Amino acid sequence: MFLNIPLHPGFVAQRQSTMAVGPRKSRVLGAILMLIFISLLVVVSRKMGQHKHSVQKPYIPSTRFWRWWKWSESFWNREQQQLDLIYNPILNVAPTNDSLVARMPWWLNHPQALKRCEPDRRVPRQVEDYNTLPQRFQDFLLYMHCRAYPILINQPHLCDDRPFLLLAIKSLAPHFDRRQAIRQSWGQAGSVANRTVVTVFLLGIASPADNFPDLSGMLSHEAKRHRDLLQWEYRDSFFNLTLKETHFLEWFGQHCSHAHYILKGDDDVFVNTWQIIRYLEHLPEVMTKDLFVGDVIRNASPHRDHRLKYFIPESVFVGDYPPYAGGGGYLYSGPLALRLYKVSQQVALFPIDDVFTGMCLKKMGLVPEEHKGFKTFDVDKKYRENPCAYKNLMLVHSRTPQEMIQIWSWLADPNLDCQNSTR
Ligand SMILES: *[C@@H]1O[C@H](CO)[C@@H](O)[C@H](O)[C@H]1NC(C)=O
Ligand SMILES: *[C@@H]1O[C@H](CO)[C@@H](O)[C@H](O)[C@H]1NC(C)=O
Ligand SMILES: *[C@@H]1O[C@H](CO)[C@@H](O)[C@H](O)[C@H]1NC(C)=O
Repeated sequence: MFLNIPLHPGFVAQRQSTMAVGPRKSRVLGAILMLIFISLLVVVSRKMGQHKHSVQKPYIPSTRFWRWWKWSESFWNREQQQLDLIYNPILNVAPTNDSLVARMPWWLNHPQALKRCEPDRRVPRQVEDYNTLPQRFQDFLLYMHCRAYPILINQPHLCDDRPFLLLAIKSLAPHFDRRQAIRQSWGQAGSVANRTVVTVFLLGIASPADNFPDLSGMLSHEAKRHRDLLQWEYRDSFFNLTLKETHFLEWFGQHCSHAHYILKGDDDVFVNTWQIIRYLEHLPEVMTKDLFVGDVIRNASPHRDHRLKYFIPESVFVGDYPPYAGGGGYLYSGPLALRLYKVSQQVALFPIDDVFTGMCLKKMGLVPEEHKGFKTFDVDKKYRENPCAYKNLMLVHSRTPQEMIQIWSWLADPNLDCQNSTR
């Protein structure tokens, strides 16, 4: 514990570097220093001793994410504990040992036999406040064990020309104008700055149950015309965005695994593709393999106010969130995506997609890196109409289709001069 006191090593190092003294003097000095150090230790340990007696239990510095390992009754945590047991190479052989089995919670002795994706009817009994949870939670929990939906629209040849940058955009079937604006601006497939850029849009089903009009005819026309749509057979809802992530990662491994980099983002962001490529080209070699950058949110924990969009009840999840990059857009390497897919299979689906990705990174021992160029909370209002505000940023949220086209044309203008601009 005392080793954590930074005073000691720094103190000694400083003395050594600033004083040139003879051997005898230094021995005397060493003895004095040692005395000071020992008396410091005594004082500090006395203080700590008093502290211990008055507080009773040891001080634990805030709840850490990995405390999800401790047995918990919250539904997500329990599911995760099951997965941890299944994928843990040591514990995996353990269930043959009766005494170990006996110590496990009862529900671990009933591993899910659910293979097909039917609602898990046991869930309402396993989540104490199930009946009072918002509908989206009931839907999520009933289908949380379903992780593989069929692909309806595929583009197996999308990456035949090895992409330097793959732009993977989360979209929703009715957002035709956003997709078209992206195609005409920052998501222009082909060559940007002499690098192969490929764009793909990720879709689920805009279900009639959610009162969406039938757009299947228009979608299949769009898919044929642009060959840049992927669609899977799950209901496209906010809580199913995590499925969009895992299905995309799976598809990437099958059809695009040699792409160098991926930018995954929403269809209402503006991406400065030139700036992204410039950034990637100047990346130090050591950073390329584990690259994961974005607008990083740290020290977050679940919202417990049920009126909020990001509300998570305690019966579903307890613990802090790991550091994660805001889902509006983040940039990572192809090799990392392949590993991310593997790990994602060992993490229970979480209803907030970017937090889920943060959990996967955490499990891989990685931390997403902050980059100031990702403006998921927009730039200052007074700069939004200023073309130079976009010159050096990587991504900004949110922009309409018309704004995307406007900003792209500003940036494409060879006469754009930002030398004397403050931005
Ligand atoms: C089962 O596990 C317990 C505790 O970990 C251990 O003491 C015991 O020897 C094990 N039994 C067998 C048969 O491996
Ligand atoms: C474009 O890239 C190709 C292949 O990497 C290279 O040979 C060519 O010189 C580049 N052109 C420009 C204008 O940078
Ligand atoms: C996710 O998609 C599945 C499959 O379409 C659906 O049954 C489930 O209700 C959806 N979940 C949410 C939270 O919308």
